[in-house]
This record gives sequence, structure tokens and C-alpha cells, in this order.
Amino acid sequence: MNKEIISIENIDKSFGEGDEILQVFKNFSLNLHQGESIGLVGASGSGKSTLLHIICGLDRPDSGSVKIQGIDITELNYDERSELRNTEIGFVYQFHHLLPELTALENIVLPALLAGTNQAEAIKNASLLLEQVNLSGKENNTPNELSGGERQRVAIARAMSNNPSCLIMDEPTGNLDTKNVENFMTLLMDMVSIKNVTLLIATHDTKVSSRLDRLLSLE
Ligand SMILES: Nc1ncnc2c1ncn2[C@@H]1O[C@H](COP(=O)(O)OP(=O)(O)OP(=O)(O)O)[C@@H](O)[C@H]1O
Ligand SMILES: [Mg+2]
Repeated sequence: MNKEIISIENIDKSFGEGDEILQVFKNFSLNLHQGESIGLVGASGSGKSTLLHIICGLDRPDSGSVKIQGIDITELNYDERSELRNTEIGFVYQFHHLLPELTALENIVLPALLAGTNQAEAIKNASLLLEQVNLSGKENNTPNELSGGERQRVAIARAMSNNPSCLIMDEPTGNLDTKNVENFMTLLMDMVSIKNVTLLIATHDTKVSSRLDRLLSLE
């Protein structure tokens, strides 16, 4: 078995209090290994985004542990969580969240600079990533000068900027047409196998889930 990248043990998570309490997770556990690709499926409101935010340390479980490469993020402070997120986890949202005033290349370079990589190396790596998502020649385009599918490909490249051990995606194809979903998935799955990252995607799209190793259904 490959190395364990994400290990969630017995988490509980609820929102609200008293009569209004909503229990989203009760004693939930999940282990993901290096190179695995997993789809997170389930009805709207079943807790997919909540789980992804917990894994990224953007939200906290009420109890239980969440380990990324053996480090329990529930025991880290805000700065330590931010650093772990920047270096170990690549996140892609439904809406690309690229910085509008930066070019495609600069958007990919930024997380590497924040992690302390020197500029020349960060630019070299970002150019290579743009090539891997088939966007050579678009280095200097800002997000509004790119198509929806191209923006999502820049978002994948940005997520890979610091060579993370896992890629976490929340409905990354929610805004793309059928043809672009297929292109996106082909590129993504190539990237996953080249870099041997663990992939976890929340999705409603069977064109996405059918390409993954296994599916996890939340109720
Ligand atoms: N900050 C919050 N405060 C209160 N309730 C919340 C909060 N975040 C999420 N919830 C509730 O928790 C439940 C799970 O939400 P979540 O966003 O994880 O669902 P989801 O599976 O991602 O749904 P979708 O497919 O629509 O994106 C929902 O009922 C939601 O209303
Ligand atoms: Mg969601």
C-alpha cells in the first residue's frame, strides 16, 4: 500500500446549537493514500464542502483528528495551518479565484514566492506547469483574457505550484461545458499520475466521477 497522505479519524462536526443543531459528521473516518483519486459525491447539503474545508484547515472538526502527512492540523495554530495548506495542499474551487490583476504566470508564481522559493526558480516552475496544462503562450494573459476552461487549467497549475502531496477540488467543473470538462479531466488525471498526488474531488458530474479510482458517497 502507498504512503498515507490524509488520515481522518472519528471526526464530529455540527453547526448551530440547541434546537437548531445540525450534525453534519458523526464518527467519520477516511484514509487516502499517495496517488489515489477519490470522488466525493452526495446530495447538496450532505457535507462535501465542509469535509474539504476541514481537510484544508479552513474549518475545524468538533472532535477527532485530521492528519496531513502525519501532522494533525487540528493541533496547529492559524499560521502553521496556513503554511501547511500552502505547501502540502492544492485547492481548486468551482470559480477559479485567480487574482484578476495578475497574469496567468504570476498567479502560479505567487504561492511559490509565499513559500519562500526564489523568483527565478518559481518562474521556471510556473512556466513548466503552464506548459503541462497546455497553456504555453498564455503566460501574460490576465484571467479576463482567458476562457472558462483555460482559467480552470491555470487554477490546476496554481494548485500544483508548491508540489503539494494532495489536490483538493470543490466542484471544479461546475462552470464548464461538456467538452471542457473532458479536457480538464484528461489534463488533471495526467497531472495526478505524473506528480503522484492524492486527489479528492467533490462533484455532481458523472463525467468527472467516472474517471476516478473510487467514490465516497456522503449521506
Ligand atoms: N458555516 C455554516 N454555518 C451553518 N451551517 C452550515 C455552515 N456551513 C455549512 N452548513 C450546513 O452544513 C450542511 C453541509 O453543507 P456543505 O456546504 O458541506 O454541503 P455540500 O455537500 O457541499 O453541498 P453542495 O453540493 O450544495 O455544495 C448544509 O446543510 C449547510 O447548510
Ligand atoms: Mg459544496
